Amino acid sequence: MSFTILGTGKAVPEYVMTNDELSTMVETSDEWIRTRTGIEERRVCKSETLTDLTVTAAKAALEDAGITAAGLDLIICSTMRGENITPSQGCMIQKELGADCPAFDVNAACSGFIYALDIADGYFVRKKVKHVLIVSMDNLSNITDWTDRSTCVLFGDGGAAAVLGEGDDLLSINITAKGDDRVLIIPHGSNSSPFYEHEEKKAVLHMMGNEVYKFAVKAMADGITKSVQDAGLALSDVDCVIPHQANIRIINASAKNLDIDREKFFCNVQHYGNTSSGSVPLALDEASHSGFIKKGDIIAMCAFGAGLTTGSCVIRWNK
Ligand code: ACO
Repeated sequence: MSFTILGTGKAVPEYVMTNDELSTMVETSDEWIRTRTGIEERRVCKSETLTDLTVTAAKAALEDAGITAAGLDLIICSTMRGENITPSQGCMIQKELGADCPAFDVNAACSGFIYALDIADGYFVRKKVKHVLIVSMDNLSNITDWTDRSTCVLFGDGGAAAVLGEGDDLLSINITAKGDDRVLIIPHGSNSSPFYEHEEKKAVLHMMGNEVYKFAVKAMADGITKSVQDAGLALSDVDCVIPHQANIRIINASAKNLDIDREKFFCNVQHYGNTSSGSVPLALDEASHSGFIKKGDIIAMCAFGAGLTTGSCVIRWNK
């Protein structure tokens, strides 16, 4: 197809919030969170802004790829909420890097990284770019209801970036959306108009966990199966799966449904919780730098999130 991943880089806030600390804020326990989700700790922004994190990840990815910001032809930032309504987070990253290229944001919640890869694919196919920077980052701590134990234990801040160059290592990619504001929604929560007649909703995450769980397990299996088929491969050809890091039980159930060896699934949900669109590239970056994946590996990536959206793809790792 169109691109290869030249480099990746991550950024997470310094502050580590443990399950025990959360247990002092809401009625929960380390044992409940570990057994129901696999999460042990997460990172939470204190001094860091979203711009700090996105720029740190972008610089790390550029260094890993061995190119400078001057060589970028496009910047796509995947985030549910940039630091400002406008300028876009992509433009903030472009400014801080000193790059000279178009930049914009995409919002597909936790599937955002795969959506961004799909958009970038189109630019490469049309030969409009040679190098694209994708930064996927969310700081969910600022839209978390810290009094709601059923959601606040699940999320964390952080993400990662990837630099793409021309190549043929994208073997297949699929994105889907099924519009639904019932099972998972984060309202805007601010409307300055004195004329608006609708009730203001609180800008925090509302989720029907069980519904998302069922959707997620099916979406992961369906997405990976379709993308592997589209790549002309069999599930047994997959060397590594980079799944969205939402809940270890969703990952385990997906491995079982797909009949892919559980050992092939990279997991870091225990350290970061669900970082939304940051999740898949953060896992990819750690899988790359820890040696979990190696040159020539066939990697399946899969995500699901609010929207409801899904994204899956198969790439050949060429680093
Ligand atoms: N601590 C202790 N007890 C809790 C907690 C908590 N933190 N949260 C819920 N409980 C209680 C509930 O009140 C319930 O009690 P009850 O039986 O007395 O009513 C009990 O634990 C079981 O609750 P369930 O919701 O049935 O627990 P479940 O096993 O389904 O796990 C969870 C809940 C972890 C949310 C799971 O459903 C899940 O992971 N869902 C998917 C969420 C997800 O992946 N979201 C990603 C999208 S996010 C995005 O796109 C931004």
